[in-house]
Amino acid sequence: MPDQPVKELPGQPLLDVRDLRVTFRTRRGSVTAVDGLSLSVAPGEILGVVGESGSGKSVSMLAVLRLLTNPNVTVSGQVLFRGRDLLTLPDKEMRAIRGREIAMVFQDPMTALTPVYTVGWQIAEQIRAHEQVSRKVARARAVELLSDVGIPDAASRVNAYPHEFSGGMRQRAVIAMALACGPSLLIADEPTTALDVTIQAQILDLMRELNARGSAVVLITHDMGVVSEIADRVLVMYGGRAAEEGPRQAVFHGPRHPYTWGLLDSVPRVGGTRLRRLPTIAGMPVSPDSLPEGCAFAPRCPARHDRCEERPELAAGSGNTAHRDACWLPPDDRAAQRLAARAGPEAGAGAQRTDETDREMAP
Ligand SMILES: Nc1ncnc2c1ncn2[C@@H]1O[C@H](COP(=O)(O)OP(=O)(O)O)[C@@H](O)[C@H]1O
Ligand code: SF4
Ligand SMILES: [Mg+2]
Repeated sequence: MPDQPVKELPGQPLLDVRDLRVTFRTRRGSVTAVDGLSLSVAPGEILGVVGESGSGKSVSMLAVLRLLTNPNVTVSGQVLFRGRDLLTLPDKEMRAIRGREIAMVFQDPMTALTPVYTVGWQIAEQIRAHEQVSRKVARARAVELLSDVGIPDAASRVNAYPHEFSGGMRQRAVIAMALACGPSLLIADEPTTALDVTIQAQILDLMRELNARGSAVVLITHDMGVVSEIADRVLVMYGGRAAEEGPRQAVFHGPRHPYTWGLLDSVPRVGGTRLRRLPTIAGMPVSPDSLPEGCAFAPRCPARHDRCEERPELAAGSGNTAHRDACWLPPDDRAAQRLAARAGPEAGAGAQRTDETDREMAP
């Protein structure tokens, strides 16, 4: 990647999303998929974004990348990348940022690969789009990159078409394209979901490597286990909103929001020699066409009370101001409130407790 002088203020986040809102106009009315989401990513940081399916993880990142081009979509708020609002940037500048400064890896690698060109050609073109190098040099770099991401016999595989690659190899090729540009930010949306466990681990290692080379990463996943392994910070989303965010250790050791309690309680754990899948959170995820005015989690929350009819804002509890959540429960002693919520009459609805839920996940 060519060196570009970029003025960055010390402590300035690389990505600073403020009050992002995405609505879709549909035949059945307006659907608010992202509802006032704010998040930030520091240079070199790995942010894990978790939440059940439909919580607005993908839509928010597509909005950040300005990939929601459908005329029925309205996006508002600010997406500050190095201090510049991507939402108001001219298309040409946005295209230059995508790929060079911000790389993307999606669940389906075919969204990033074109079936009609060889993998090597595509990686080489990606290099040439951002760097003034000859075809020959770009191709040699493509071979190197494919080899770096663990594609065996890269010198001949470089000539293969995407359909000749397995799913795991395609995802590696997409990551090779990301590596090609040395992006300052990688946005990875469920990059390992479709892959088997061994390949998953290898892809995560590659993302760690990219991170070790200086790229910040936003990793979207519904897998708390993955987040506990790789993220520096965690953002928990529910109903298009942030439910909780904070340093990984803080969130895993002292989860504050009842939704996070539920997510952690439904993570499979190794108990003795058995891997036990614990009950998932009772009730259905909220639908974005019927978001409650108050707390979005209220219909499923074992700790809901009168005040929950008002919408809670993200706020720090006592102590760690980097650890915030949006919940009306008194800020102190959430561990005791969590136990009380479990013991309460609604705690049992659809969720059988097991003794294993008393243990917090090791971060
Ligand atoms: N094109 C669309 N039109 C209407 N609703 C949409 C569209 N795309 C996504 N949504 C809705 O937005 C919500 C958030 O979706 P998404 O961001 O994909 O969730 P996640 O990635 O967290 O699983 C979902 O409820 C989904 O139905
Ligand atoms: S605000 Fe109320 S309903 Fe929402 S998570 Fe907190 S206690 Fe539960
Ligand atoms: Mg998604």
